[in-house]
This record gives sequence, C-alpha cells and structure tokens, in this order.
Amino acid sequence: MGASSRVFLKLGAVLCLAGAAALGQAEQVVNVYSHRHYETDQRLYERFQRETGIAVRVVQAGAAELIERLRAEGARSPADLLITVDAGRLQRAKALGLLQPAGSRILEQTVPAGLRDPEGTWFGLTTRARVIVYAKDRVDPRELAGYEELTDPRWRGRLLVRSSTSEYNQSLLAWLIEARGEQAARLWAEGMVANFARAPKGNDRDQVKAVVAGEGDIALVNTYYIGLLLNSEDPEERKVGAAVGVAFPRETHLNISGAGITASSRNAANARRLLEFLVSEEAQRVFADANYEYPVNPQVRPSALLASWGQVPASPTGIGNLGKHYEAALRIFDLAGWR
Ligand code: FE2
Repeated sequence: MGASSRVFLKLGAVLCLAGAAALGQAEQVVNVYSHRHYETDQRLYERFQRETGIAVRVVQAGAAELIERLRAEGARSPADLLITVDAGRLQRAKALGLLQPAGSRILEQTVPAGLRDPEGTWFGLTTRARVIVYAKDRVDPRELAGYEELTDPRWRGRLLVRSSTSEYNQSLLAWLIEARGEQAARLWAEGMVANFARAPKGNDRDQVKAVVAGEGDIALVNTYYIGLLLNSEDPEERKVGAAVGVAFPRETHLNISGAGITASSRNAANARRLLEFLVSEEAQRVFADANYEYPVNPQVRPSALLASWGQVPASPTGIGNLGKHYEAALRIFDLAGWR
C-alpha cells in the first residue's frame, strides 16, 4: 500500500441507509478518505452505522493521493475524515490547512497526549512498531540491537525490506532525520541498500516469506503483519510466521495510524462521532484482537501475541513533526538508490 504515482482511487463499500430516508429526513453520512485497507475497519463502519444510523462512505487510496485529492477539491471536497497509516501524513495535511480541530472532550480524554496533535486536528487510532524479524535458525537476536546496526557489513546480502514508496519506510526515515539529522539518515539509507539481499519488492508480509525461503536472513516489518501471518487461514502463512523471531530495536519507531476531520467537512459532527467510536473500547478491541495493532485507548490491552513480545521501547523523540521531513526522506531514498 505504498504511495504510487498513479492516482488509484477505489470506491470502498458504500453503505446504504434506509431509515432516515423513509422518515423523509436528509440522509446522515460521513465520507471517509482512508489509506487503511483492513477488513476490521469495514466491520467497524458497519457496526457504527447500525448503532447511529450514519452511513459511512469510504474512498480508499494511498495517503499522498488522498491529500492531493483534498487539495485539488478544496472547499468542494466531499471528504469529512482523513485516515492514514502514519501520523506523518496527518501532520502534512494539517500543515497544508486541510484539517480542523475536532473539539472533542472524549477524544482528548481517551487518546494519550503523545499520540495526538496537541491542537486537536488529528488523533491516533492505533500504533504499530517497525521491528526486525529474523530467521530463528540462522540469526542470534542479540546481533539486532537497533536500526543502525542493520548497516553493519555482517548483514551484506542478507537484509530484506520493501520499497521506499512505502509509507512505513518513509515515516521511519523521517523519524531518523528528526532524531539524528539528515547526514546520519543518508548514511543509514546507503548502508541499508549496500546490505540488500535483493531489489525491494512486495509488501511487509512478502519480506517475511523471503526470510523463511532463505532469500535473506532479516527483514524490517510492521508488527501487525506478524499477527496476521500467525493467524492466517493459510497453513503456509502460519508456518512462515512461526519460523521467524521478532526483535525490537532499542529505540523503536512507531507508525501511528490516525485520523483528522477535514477543514471542508460538511458533516463534521458525524465525523467526530465516528472518531469517538473508533477510539472506544469496543472498536479498539477489534483493532487489537483482529488486526494485531496496539490500541491507543489505555483501557484496552494489546492482543496476547503482542503482549508476549513485552513492552514496546519508547521512541526518544516521540511523534515529533515527521511530516516536515518527508521531502528530505524521499530525496535521501533516491540518492541512496533505495527504489
Ligand atoms: Fe500495511
């Protein structure tokens, strides 16, 4: 689900609403532009609609495309809520004037301060950690201290990671720029490329499969994919999930998947209600148990699998403002030859 240069917009499930129409009222809707692409979200939208009578209409695409679309549509945009897989994009949308404060006590009380915009324009829904997976039979996890060590020559030809078009990699590099500066980030990207087992291809799940197939020994992956592999209906995928170990870098980058109400929203009250529902214990449990994400609501525990990995080491920089580093990140990827 990386940002492709093509604009590819898929109209997600359009849910119909009979009740309000039958009563002759204007239909209650909330229009969502979302980069998230999970079955769990669909399930939650349907539940929300049943509980509130508000129809959820979803347009699904990469965050960069959705933000471009919001800009192009301006005040005429039908979108009420922008949902991304990483907060860097929400910071970017905010900087472009595309979001408005939600003005919700519930959101401010539920989502911890480090996982939302202090000015209230966007809120984290879940987090996922960018971790290192390794072939249990070939790698000693004590060799995997941090992201920096992945550039060590000992990993030459052994490292697997997806393309730089991935939001997850862009966010990680933006975080390294924030934490260490551009020069260090550039050296890191070059060191990574020097260790690639192959030219980047496929998604995070494909990197894990390639480790197990012996194409490389370690891979950079988001935590929720491990949960999806281990609990897949496909026995081959379960085998792949079981063959790898998970190592948390000493400073672990978190992707904050979150959402913000658009500046041009015509259904802002409905969007606020959907946001409040998505951080409720009911919805957070679905994100945690069915999609293996870390919930933002402190009342909800991570799934047993994630809990078994222990506490996620906190990022030293917090969420920072990663949005301002995206352009530098893309330039560095390009210079390093990380396709
Ligand atoms: Fe993903």
